[in-house]
Formats: sequence, structure tokens, C-alpha cells
Amino acid sequence: MKIYLPLDSAAVALGADDIAEAITAEAQKRGVAITLIRNGSRGMVWLEPMAEVATEDGRLAFGPMTPEDVPALFDDLAAHPKALGLTEELDWMKRQTRLTFARCGVVDPTSLHDYELHHGLKGLKRALGMTPAAIVQEVTDSGLRGRGGAGFPTGIKWKTVHDARASQKYIVCNADEGDSATFADRMLMEGDPFTLIEGMAIAGIAVGATKGYIYTRSEYPIAITQMQKAIEVARAAGILGPRVLGSDHAFDMEVRVGAGAYVCGEETSLLNSLEGKRGVVRAKPPLPALQGFMGKPTVVNNVISLASVPVIMDRGAAFYKNFGMGRSHGTMALQIAGNVKFGGLFETAFGLSLGEIVNEIAGGTASGRPVKAVQVGGPLGAWFPTSLFDTPFTYEDFAAKDGLIGHAGLTIADDSTDMLKMARFAMEFCAIESCGKCTPCRIGAVRGVETLDRVAAGDPSALPLVADLCNTMKSGSLCALGGFTPYPVMSALTHFPDDFATAKAAAE
Ligand code: NAI
Ligand code: SF4
Repeated sequence: MKIYLPLDSAAVALGADDIAEAITAEAQKRGVAITLIRNGSRGMVWLEPMAEVATEDGRLAFGPMTPEDVPALFDDLAAHPKALGLTEELDWMKRQTRLTFARCGVVDPTSLHDYELHHGLKGLKRALGMTPAAIVQEVTDSGLRGRGGAGFPTGIKWKTVHDARASQKYIVCNADEGDSATFADRMLMEGDPFTLIEGMAIAGIAVGATKGYIYTRSEYPIAITQMQKAIEVARAAGILGPRVLGSDHAFDMEVRVGAGAYVCGEETSLLNSLEGKRGVVRAKPPLPALQGFMGKPTVVNNVISLASVPVIMDRGAAFYKNFGMGRSHGTMALQIAGNVKFGGLFETAFGLSLGEIVNEIAGGTASGRPVKAVQVGGPLGAWFPTSLFDTPFTYEDFAAKDGLIGHAGLTIADDSTDMLKMARFAMEFCAIESCGKCTPCRIGAVRGVETLDRVAAGDPSALPLVADLCNTMKSGSLCALGGFTPYPVMSALTHFPDDFATAKAAAE
């Protein structure tokens, strides 16, 4: 009997380790031989811990499991009180286009054999038969853009590093996933670490880098362990090392762990931290692509950007580019969170409307109250009211409505949410996380909190100051932290002016 149970952090937080123990104990008690595989999550967080039992027809899902539900897994499966049916037939799974996350929740994460059984290493093998310039061209042609948030074309970034002349180049994977409501990087590293290794190896071969670093945060202990295990397996199998799969290309990598400062997700601050310095932002230019880690040309890409490369190299640029809408090609791993009925990871081609995502996929709010707004793109993203729910999920459409898709985290809020408090939270977050290098952010965020407190206390004369401050922060900050904090503040103020007038009315 083969049973799959996620080791994913969300599943573990919801009790997956207790379920694993109960499964082992019950099997022993009954004298049943089982293989228990701790895999990644399928992304349906509301069903975690979700166990799957392999059958001739496919994997049957059961969840959310409690230890009391375990004994029935050894009886008639169809009669199990938590039986959900075949995993692949669940609505959430059927509606997705899983390219980057195709293996997550399916394979045994650190089994290279399982990885290869599921198309693993095909992209790398194809890349090894191409010139570096042709690999860069393939990634450019795929239309892949930076999935960390900025959406910069990955192929163009790689070309800058490819064309740079230097004795040493680096690949740095930004796995310092700090945005609220985002967990795609973590899930990928926990559930399918070889995909990231393969993507980084391809990047190294393409640009001429022989060394890679995954920079992640101490809050991701399972992801760190999984990545380290997978790197060791890959090294032992000759995927990493002086001759990648027997070729003339050398590439190796290691995991580096930061202490979890939000600003270390900003690429130059990350590079400082990686070099052992304080995590403060560096001025750009020079771009990291030309002077990055240790002053050498460096590709800094997000986990999901790099993990999307193997499928592009395996299936071809045209296959990938065919998904999506406008200039937003391929798929995006939506991370749905907040006050929501069905939260989790949903990979889909760009172009669904925000309303479809929130109402149809996520099922509306968990509280059952009407949706008030959705913050898209993490703590620096704009709040979108329901009147903008027809906005297609693409880089351009969100930018046109004064928002951003960022790393595709969506935080849903119901009608009881006070948007003035949300605006204050954004300013407070910026004040706490600011690296302090530039004045508009360091001082502006603190003044922002104070000014919003004046509004809350019923001082309407403070409102123009909020807008003024936001303009200064937006145009005068050195990096996205100070520069983008105005998005949640101004969108809250623009779309929900009544929430900013409540205190005033009460005072009158
Ligand atoms: P950016 O627009 O300054 O740069 C984007 C990327 O393109 C950088 O890697 C930059 O070095 C590179 N680049 C620009 N011009 C280039 C050229 N000519 N050649 C080669 N490379 C070039 O944006 P930034 O500051 O890197 O990122 C901001 C975004 O980060 C925001 O949109 C925000 O959504 C996102 N973000 C994501 C977080 C997460 O947890 N994933 C956390 C915080 C922010
Ligand atoms: Fe540092 Fe804030 Fe300036 Fe960014 S905007 S460089 S986080 S002070």
C-alpha cells in the first residue's frame, strides 16, 4: 500500500506529522506493509493535511485528515468519511495548467528516479546539446518574465550576463519570499527541489556561470533541508559538479540562509547579505547583471522564474509562449490567501479575470460575507475593489489600473475590513522593514503612520498630506519597498474614501 502525505510546511502546520505517525502506527498494528511518501502539497491548503492512497485508477485523496480518520484508510476506501475522490479529478486540479508545478505534490521530492519518471532532466539534456546563445534565445522567445514581481524579461537579463566578459559569473536564486500571502517559492522548494536545481544549471550553462546560490530565509526550514538533500543527490548523480551530466560545463550550487529581513528580497540587498554584509540596498546602476555577487556578472532570478525554465527547454519556447494573454506569456502560480474559502496555490495561464479567481476559484470569503477588496502583489500591492474585478490577471492590465501582480499573492478581505487600518498597516510595515538608506522611505513611512493616525483621530486636514507623502515616496525612494508602499495606501484611499471619513464623522 502506497500512501502520500505532504511534508509541506502548511500541511505540517495543520498536523501532517501527527497523521504520518498515526498511519505508521496503524499499519504496524494491522501488520500491513506500507510505503509512506512525504511529498509536496497539491496546493489545496483547506484540505490539508491531505493524504493520498495510490490505487490502480489513480491516487485517491482524503482530507482534511485528523488522526481519528487514519484507521479507516485501511478499510473500504470508498466509504472513508474524508474521501474526496481521485485527486486529478478534483475541480481545483482539473482547472489548472500545471507547467512549473507539474511535479509538485506528485513526486517523491528527493527521489531523482521519480523526477526522471516525470519528465525531469529533459530540459537540461536538451540545453546541453545547444550553444549558450541558443539557450538564451529560447528563453527570450518563450516570453518568460521575472516571476518575483517586476516582470522583467528573463531572456534579456540572461543575455546581459551572457554578453558580459568576466572570469567568473554567478546564478543567484532569490528565494527570500517575503511578501504576505506568497508561498509558491517555498512550495516548489519543498515539493520539487530538482526542478529549481535543473533550472539553475540551465541558467549557468546559458550565461557561463559555474556557481549558483539559493538565498532563502531561516523561516523556511523544510525548504532548506529539502534543497540541501536534493543538491547532494544531484551532485552524487553528476548533475552538479565539474562536468554537468558528463559535459564540458561545470556548475555547482549551495543554499545560503538569511535571517528573514523583508528588504533582503530586494536583489541588491540580497547580494550584500550573501556577501556577509548588512542587508542594505545598493544603488542601481550598476545592474547586478553586470556587477552583482562579488562584483561579478550575476543572474538574480526568483525561484519560479528559474523553475519555469526546465519545462520551456523541454517543450520548447513556442509551447510556453502559447499560454497567457498579451505580453504576459505562460503560466503564473496564484497564491490565494486571506479571508477566503479555498486558499492555496493555483497555477494557470495569465488572463483570468480577478473576479473569476476570487469568486469562482477561491469560492469567495471564508466568513461568508461579501468581498470588499483584494490586495494583489503582497504588502506593496494595490487593493482592488469589486468594481475592478473584470481586470484580467496580466502584468499590463494590473499596471493600467495602478496596481501590480507582483509575485501573484492575493489577500482577500470581506466587507468588515477597515481600509484605513490596512493603509496604516502598509506604512507601518514599511517603517519596520525599511533598510534606512534613503530618506523618503526611512522618514516618510514613519510620518505616514503618524499622518494616518491623525486621519483616524478625525483630522481631515491630514488627508492631503498622505497623498503628498505617497507621491514623494513613490518618486523619491531608492527601491520598491519605499517606492511601492504608496500603492496599498493610495488604492485604499481612492477606492474606499468612506473608511477614511468614518473617524471624522464620528468626531463631528
Ligand atoms: P526592477 O524593475 O528594478 O528590476 C527588475 C529586474 O530586472 C532586476 O533583476 C534588474 O536588475 C533587472 N534589469 C533591469 N534592467 C535590466 C537590463 N537592462 N539588463 C539586465 N537586467 C535588468 O524591479 P525590482 O526592484 O528588482 O523588483 C521590484 C518588484 O519586486 C516589485 O514589483 C515587487 O512586486 C517585487 N517584490 C517581490 C517580493 C517577493 O516576496 N517575491 C518582495 C518584495 C517585492
Ligand atoms: Fe532602503 Fe526603503 Fe530606501 Fe529601499 S526605499 S533603499 S528599503 S530606505
